[in-house]
Amino acid sequence: MSTTDRYAVFGSPIKHSKSPRIHRLFAEQTGQALSYEALEVTAEAFPDEVGGFFAAGGKGLNCTVPLKELAYRFAGVKTERAERSKAVNTLALQTDGTVLGDNTDGCGLVTDLLSNHQLTLAGKRVLILGAGGASRGIIGPILEQAPSRLVIANRTADKAVSLAEEFSTRGDISGCGFEALAQSQFDLILNATSASLSGQLPPLPDHLLAGQGSCYDLAYGNEPTAFVRWGIAHGARLSLDGLGMLVEQAAEAFLIWRGVRPQTRPVIELLDQERK
Ligand code: ATR
Repeated sequence: MSTTDRYAVFGSPIKHSKSPRIHRLFAEQTGQALSYEALEVTAEAFPDEVGGFFAAGGKGLNCTVPLKELAYRFAGVKTERAERSKAVNTLALQTDGTVLGDNTDGCGLVTDLLSNHQLTLAGKRVLILGAGGASRGIIGPILEQAPSRLVIANRTADKAVSLAEEFSTRGDISGCGFEALAQSQFDLILNATSASLSGQLPPLPDHLLAGQGSCYDLAYGNEPTAFVRWGIAHGARLSLDGLGMLVEQAAEAFLIWRGVRPQTRPVIELLDQERK
């Protein structure tokens, strides 16, 4: 039997995932022997595939769209941040045979903002666009940074309102529809809608971004996303996509699995170079 520990990312579609490349670079950098592959797994196939993966000796999994809620339900033990976001992107086999579920998306985002881009959140007015799974995963870690105000805006306003209510004991947070943003300004706008993936943008008022404000799209691509372009067109100091978050959330998963946190900067720089 192979002594190489086996890891994978499950999702659908998964063909263009950068996770295998990132984790192989981490393994090389830290001198760890492991394999990491991307496997096309639909929601319907997930229960069988995840059970089969761990039964066959797999050590850890990343789960991406559309599997994060299913991974949350599968995990036998969950971290507090996974419980709060009700979504899991990292599964890890533990020595007692249980499978731990964690969500490293939010801390990956916050690390990218703070450490890689020196963007502080404390005392800042922050807007999150979208009230789906991606938004849910980042609200807790953002509130921990003590923004002066956090607003969730969504096409379906009710979803933003109820999501904000869920987190209301933890900071100044409210939810609304896009039309309610007309008179507001923010220091940081985060796009957590899936609109970017189809090249679309939520309807945003022109003066939404405060002077010196910045934009961040959780999505990434080889070309600037529609929201990154919106940020540039509206004078953002920084208008970033989610490549840094992707690498930082992967580093957190690697830490959970292997007990060592790899250097992320060289990996972000390499992947950024490769898309230019
Ligand atoms: P994810 O896990 O990627 O967050 P999701 O849970 O399906 O996916 O959530 C998608 C989010 O993107 C939702 O907030 C959705 O708005 P609705 O709740 O109103 O559906 C938002 N979204 C998707 N396409 C959009 C578009 N073209 N314009 C604005 N918001 C959009």
